Amino acid sequence: VTETPDGFTPDLELELRAAPDQIAILPGQSTGVWRYRAKVLKGPANAVTTIPGSYLGPIINVRRGTRVRVNFINELPQPSVVHWHGLIIPEAMDGHPRYVVPPGGRYTYEFEVRNRAGTYWFHPHPDQLTGTQVNAGLAGLFIVTDDEERALKLPDGERDVALVIQDRSFTSDNQLRYVGNGPGMAGMMSRMNGFIGDQILVNGRPDFSLAVERRPYRLRLLNGSNSRIYKLAWNDSSPMTVIGSDGGLLYAPVRRTYITLAPAERIELWVDFSTRVAGEELTLQSQPFAASTGGSMMGGMMGGSGSLPNGAEFPVLKVRIGKGAAISEKLPGMLTSIAPLRPEQASNFANPRTFRTTMVGMRWGLNGRVFEMDGVAKDEVVRLGSTEIWEFINEASMGMMGGGMPHPIHIHGVQFRIIGRRVQPAAISAWHSLNEGYVDEGWKDTVLLMPGERVRLLMRFDNYPGMFVYHCHNLEHEDMGMMRNFLIKA
Ligand code: C2O
Ligand code: CU
Repeated sequence: VTETPDGFTPDLELELRAAPDQIAILPGQSTGVWRYRAKVLKGPANAVTTIPGSYLGPIINVRRGTRVRVNFINELPQPSVVHWHGLIIPEAMDGHPRYVVPPGGRYTYEFEVRNRAGTYWFHPHPDQLTGTQVNAGLAGLFIVTDDEERALKLPDGERDVALVIQDRSFTSDNQLRYVGNGPGMAGMMSRMNGFIGDQILVNGRPDFSLAVERRPYRLRLLNGSNSRIYKLAWNDSSPMTVIGSDGGLLYAPVRRTYITLAPAERIELWVDFSTRVAGEELTLQSQPFAASTGGSMMGGMMGGSGSLPNGAEFPVLKVRIGKGAAISEKLPGMLTSIAPLRPEQASNFANPRTFRTTMVGMRWGLNGRVFEMDGVAKDEVVRLGSTEIWEFINEASMGMMGGGMPHPIHIHGVQFRIIGRRVQPAAISAWHSLNEGYVDEGWKDTVLLMPGERVRLLMRFDNYPGMFVYHCHNLEHEDMGMMRNFLIKA
């Protein structure tokens, strides 16, 4: 534990290894996975916790303002790089694919945690291999707390639960099956549509069941799937109280009858199990929805993908209510003072930048371009310190414009506000099957863009200059090039 020449002294120093392992997931033969393991070298031992019984994780727990050093060791048979999804950190720490670490290599990530309290995460981000590596098991959580959040006395300890929802497919001998990087038509179709698994895992386990006391809980949900979208609701249709999203706590709790959760999005629920009957069982399910506008070539292809297509109905997890006495608690009516950002502050208020989802040959792209390691177009340079509006447009039908499929758009290096959504008449039915589950109230780093939808985002680039990426977080789309650099210029 030393100070580097640039004077960075960490409050927390970790070793983080990515390596293959064998895990019992299904009955019978164990499954080969890739996983992260972390060790605290300096700082509080509880800065790293595990997700109980899971090969996913670990969970890195820090206070806002912590200076973190992570000594990453790549013991995978492939190059990899760690992206700290949602954190606002310098380019060389952010996991841009050009900072890829070869097999057997090491890399030192050093950053100060400037983000608000919230549920962030980390995962691999190597060019064309992100889907493969996330599918293999590499995904951890990065949970930030701060004084403002602590003062709220939200449920903590055993009653603060992280839940990573993923879909996976297994071969008959229990090995993970992934065709997203495969050859031929099957590989191509999987890349076009995104990988859809036929089994739901929560925290890396099938048939997940959570035992709770009759008290309020804080559930932190991450959609860690490569491409599946969930429409989450309780089986008895009781309303869901949302307290946070990608970039931390909302201004005030909001209620939804269901929640739309696209890949990489997070949602925090405050759930009062004290009102439940002792011994009761609840199911969190994903409800059916129109995954695309239908009629398009993509719609037809998606309907046929696997035994559990995107948009199907299925249980996600069960909650078993304990038999003890009920203890109620009040949820504060106000959660945080979110710093206001007004659309009029944007330098391009009158003329926002627009980004269209497009096809480039048989690949997904953005504004007619696919990923180039060092490429930056004129419309991808922004000024450090500026506030801008970016509009993402997804055409309703596929055609030449490359619409017809949902695309969860993620921007590195920034947290944004969603200031508007518009939808084309042709896409109304698909949109209406999900739009009441959007949680657009807080800070976001990933936004679902349904076919036929345009979304306006407001953001301020006030932290670090450098080259960052924006991309579709359907990982197969990302891997086929639906990703672009943008340069924040000092
Ligand atoms: Cu979570 Cu660039 O990704
Ligand atoms: Cu996409």
